[in-house]
Amino acid sequence: MTGLLTGRVALVTGAASGIGAAIAEAYAREGATLCLVDISTGTGLADVAKRCEDWGVRTITLLADVSKEDDVTRAFADAEAELGAVDILVNNAGILTECRVSDMSAAMFDELIAVDLRSVFLCSRAAIPGMQRKQFGRIINVSSQLGQKGGVGLAHYSAAKAGVIGFTRALARELARDGITVNSIAPGPIHTALSSDLSDEWIRTLTESLPLGRFGYPDEVAPTAVLLASEPGGNLYTGQTLGPNSGDVMP
Ligand SMILES: NC(=O)c1ccc[n+]([C@@H]2O[C@H](COP(=O)([O-])OP(=O)(O)OC[C@H]3O[C@@H](n4cnc5c(N)ncnc54)[C@H](O)[C@@H]3O)[C@@H](O)[C@H]2O)c1
Repeated sequence: MTGLLTGRVALVTGAASGIGAAIAEAYAREGATLCLVDISTGTGLADVAKRCEDWGVRTITLLADVSKEDDVTRAFADAEAELGAVDILVNNAGILTECRVSDMSAAMFDELIAVDLRSVFLCSRAAIPGMQRKQFGRIINVSSQLGQKGGVGLAHYSAAKAGVIGFTRALARELARDGITVNSIAPGPIHTALSSDLSDEWIRTLTESLPLGRFGYPDEVAPTAVLLASEPGGNLYTGQTLGPNSGDVMP
């Protein structure tokens, strides 16, 4: 542990697995106090919390559906009551479904936008007052390279993730003078439960097209989230989209 985040309170959404779990553990290694949020009632969240506590940091877990306004309000109230105002918010929770637009129901479109984009608005809005009081904050939104390049059968996902990038840029401008930075991370394909839902055809074609020739692992994304949250490394980034993406997109 180098203690880059010692004294900071970090709330990570979708922390029960994959990239969110890796970010939570990387933050624990750097000394952050943690609030881990997920919708999943499985053992994942408790397991991740245990691994974080093994680094000697205080860790709480909260069950919430971050696409729902009441859940988000309650989660932030509980987090603040237990740990104080959130310094670092990682909007990571997300889902992925696959369907061409011609076959897509409005319900499928709405659900994905709610979980992958509306949640980013709801959680950011909930975190801002505490960050403004401290005149310090780091909001880190997990987008996707598909928000930059688009993907067949993934128009709703691509739209949500492009929306996250636009939201990030606008909010970065709104909050810059409050000592709050807002950035996004747009990973390429990463080995997690979410990407295993992609069809075999998608995975084969994508792997062949990647300059680095392979999917990444969550541990290869988490250091970018540490950089953006830390001082002085993250100080000058705001409104940016960083791409640990195997070279899939070179903006
Ligand atoms: N895996 C990839 O290839 C990849 C690539 C680019 C971006 N991403 C993004 O990274 C983020 C994390 O994905 P992952 O690959 O680690 O997937 P994952 O499925 O392993 O983790 C997602 C987590 O979010 C939680 N979650 C889902 N809906 C929720 C809700 N409504 N409220 C609270 N929690 C909820 C899930 O329970 C799960 O623990 C997502 O935003 C995803 O879009 C993933």
